[in-house]
Parts: sequence; structure tokens; C-alpha cells
Amino acid sequence: MYFIGIDVGTSAVKLLLVDETGKIRNSASAEYPLFFPQPGWSEQNPTDWWDAVGQCFRELLDGCDASLVAGIGVGGQMHGLVALDENDAVIRPAILWNDGRTQEETDWLNQVIGKEKLSQLTANIAFAGFTAPKLLWMKKHEPENFARISKIMLPKDYINYRLTGVHACDYSDASGMLLLDVANKCWSREMLEIVGVSEKQMPKLFESFQVIGTVKPETAKALGLPEGVKVVAGAGDNAAAAVGTGTVGDGACNISLGTSGTIFISSEKFGVDPNNALHAFAHADGTYHLMGCMLSAASCNKWFCDEILKTQDYAGEQVEITDEKLGRNRVFFLPYLMGERSPINDTDARGTFIGLSMDSARSDMMQAVLEGVAFAIRDSFEVARSLGIRIERSMLCGGGAKSPLWRKIMANVLDLPLDIPQTEEGPGYGGAMLAMVGCGQYASVKACADALVHTTETVLPEPALAERYEAAYRKFQKIYPAVKGLFRELQK
Ligand code: XUL
Repeated sequence: MYFIGIDVGTSAVKLLLVDETGKIRNSASAEYPLFFPQPGWSEQNPTDWWDAVGQCFRELLDGCDASLVAGIGVGGQMHGLVALDENDAVIRPAILWNDGRTQEETDWLNQVIGKEKLSQLTANIAFAGFTAPKLLWMKKHEPENFARISKIMLPKDYINYRLTGVHACDYSDASGMLLLDVANKCWSREMLEIVGVSEKQMPKLFESFQVIGTVKPETAKALGLPEGVKVVAGAGDNAAAAVGTGTVGDGACNISLGTSGTIFISSEKFGVDPNNALHAFAHADGTYHLMGCMLSAASCNKWFCDEILKTQDYAGEQVEITDEKLGRNRVFFLPYLMGERSPINDTDARGTFIGLSMDSARSDMMQAVLEGVAFAIRDSFEVARSLGIRIERSMLCGGGAKSPLWRKIMANVLDLPLDIPQTEEGPGYGGAMLAMVGCGQYASVKACADALVHTTETVLPEPALAERYEAAYRKFQKIYPAVKGLFRELQK
């Protein structure tokens, strides 16, 4: 039997064809454009996602016995607002998770409705990337679009809707809308009222591994699938990646170095960070998690190489960063290219190099970029620590985890053993695993993870290097507070 995992990412969609033993039989990927209509804004066309999925299906199933496909599970970029009208047409481009246009609406929610009330209703406070502030923005700035909304959904739900015709969402992804009562796993009527939408416009809620429907016959035909393929609700990409890296069970941790950078701590019981610096969301295995999310992680590396150094040779740029240079860099980088979410929650923050001198080399700046991302992940790690959460080790996944140098920097900045799973394709693999559970192949997500996920390598911190990075992190911590006041002014 085959299961298809789909990861609707920010730069591309990736599809995996996985057999029941967990072996990846085939994969396909297609990119789509990302639009920045104004500084700090970020949009994509949902129909581009669907077209890319269609294109990948042909490649994915080429040469395979498609009649063996039993189930599909989608993991997707979280928080993006997809709005359909009564004819199921997309009303406007999706406003993505890393879009910072809603500062005013976010402030209104946090200050006028109040953080305490938001936290009581949804277990979280407002962040600019969350879905509720985007709905408020649309209501104010595009009232004619807002009035046309018939269905509200998240990116992966749009794919599920096109596959099945069912308007559904799972609890992990719904948690990031600021409309879900996370503790009780239902829409918060009060939050829907505050935002001005009705439950009729919202998707039906499911656990991530529950089947929401089957692929529509005409869609199955177009994609080359047999009839009756089941589609599970799927999950937000971080929860799906956690499943894909076996991050289930109390205290298990996963760090993802994708376009965003996240630290994901699984927890059997519902719990909230009293300062709301970490998100309190549902997990895809039926439990909960805490998560810190930085908006630009591997994307900082991509930006620096593609846009500044004008090279695609990412590995080549790291060759000169030799062991003796680690922990000794005098150049620092704040990785806030799209503002920042966890833990500083500042849409005005921007990328910053500091400490340059005449002897600074290109490779010192490259190193500062990789280190800056690691330091910023450490900021969220420190918040978890301050809550008394003990993290003994973590999985590491995402495109950035392919770089041995970046792995080493991460392990030493965090002073933490990092386990590398057999595939860095966390969300897609997790999506396929959720489909296996939904199709009855495994009794639970935990059973599936225990059977399929294994570690191929552990990167251990080295005491002397971890100590040097400890000193460097103390310096890094002083940079943002020193320049914070300038960011808004610089953008005027
Ligand atoms: C999580 C978040 C990002 C996106 C990236 O809160 O916003 O990790 O899900 O796709």
C-alpha cells in the first residue's frame, strides 16, 4: 500500500510517496512565487499551490502502481488566510504566516481585548502572522472582500478542499488562527464574534489523523489516482514535522530549520506559557505542544547567498568557515528579515549586521548569518527553560539541517545533542504517517512513529566550543535591546 504526504511550504510544495514500511518510493517538488507587495507583506496564490500539487502528482506516480495509493495527508504552512466566496473562488491572495501588515489589529487585540482575555479564550495572544488579525485587517481595508467571504481556511485545508470538497481543519493548524479554544478543541464563539465571522464560515474540526473524506472521482481521474483514496485532516507543518521526526510524547523536542525556524515541545497535557512568548497549540497526535517560531531561518541563508552573494553554491560558501573560527566570530547578525515573532514579537525589527571591520571577510558574514539563526532559536529555547521545561536532546529537521556546519553550530549554541532523522522532509513524511494512521495501518501516531522513525546521526556539543558559544550568545543577547528603538524610525 502507498501513502502520499504533501508539504505545502512557503517556497515549494513537496510530495512523498511512502510505502507501508515507511520507505520513500518517490518524491516530487514544484516551486511557486512568493509576493512581497509592500515591505513586510507576504502573499501567495492558493491556486498556484493547487497547480503545483497537480503537476507533482504526475511525476510522483510515474512508474508506480497508483492503484496501491490508499491515503493522503497534508502538512502546510500555518496561519495563512485563504478566503473563498460562495462560488468557491479565491477572493484575494492568501496573506501568509510571515506577513507583518497587521500590527494595528494585533495591538488592538492585545491591548483593547487584552492579552489575558485572549489567552483565556484561545490559550494564546495575538501575533501579526496569526489568522484572526488578518481577518480584522481585511474587514477594515478591504470591506468588499470581507463581505464576500463564504469559507475561511488555512493553506493545507485549501488543498484538502480541492481534493475532497470537504471544508475541514485539524486542531494543530486551527490553533494558530487565534479563533480556536485550544484547551477544549472547539471554535471560540466569543473570538469569532470579536473578529466578526460566524461558525458557518469556519471549517469543521478534526484530529489530524482522522479521515475527512475521499478524493472526488473527477479529481482522482485528473491526478491519476484510483477511486476512494482517503484524505486525513493533516496538520500545520510544524506538528506534521514533529510527527515525521517522531516528536511525540511528553518532553520530546523538534527543531526545524526551514523558511521559518521553530522549536516544538510535545506535551501530553494542555499547558500555556504564562507570558505567552511560546505558542500553546494542539499536537497532531491528539495531545498538545508549546512552540517558538522565528520568521526567517533557512531563508536568511537563502537570502544572503541568492540576493547578496549572488550564488547558489550554499555549501561552497561554508568551506572557509573552519572549526577554529567557530565561536570566535566578531561579526553578529540579527536574523529579523521579516520582523520577528518568538520571542520578541516585533514586526518592525529588521536584519542587522554588527561588528564589521576592515578585516571582516565574506565568510565571517556568512558565519554570522548561520550563527544569528542559531542564537535566535536559543532565545526561544531559553523561554522554555525558564518555564522549567527540561530538554535533554532534540530532533533537527528542515532544509537547513542538511548542512553539517549548521548542525554543529546549532548543537553547540544550544549545548544540546541533536538527533538527525532518516529524512529531513519532516512535514511531508509526517503527512504520510498521519494518512497511515487514518487508514488503520497503525493504531496511533505514537505507534506509527515508534515503528517508522529512526535517527541516523547524533550531533553532540563539544564542551570547549559550547563554552565559546555561551559567551558569544551573551553578546548576541545585548544587540537587539540596543537597536530596538531604531527599527520603526528606519522604516519611515
Ligand atoms: C509557525 C509558523 C511557521 C509556518 C511556516 O507558527 O508560522 O513555522 O508554519 O510554514
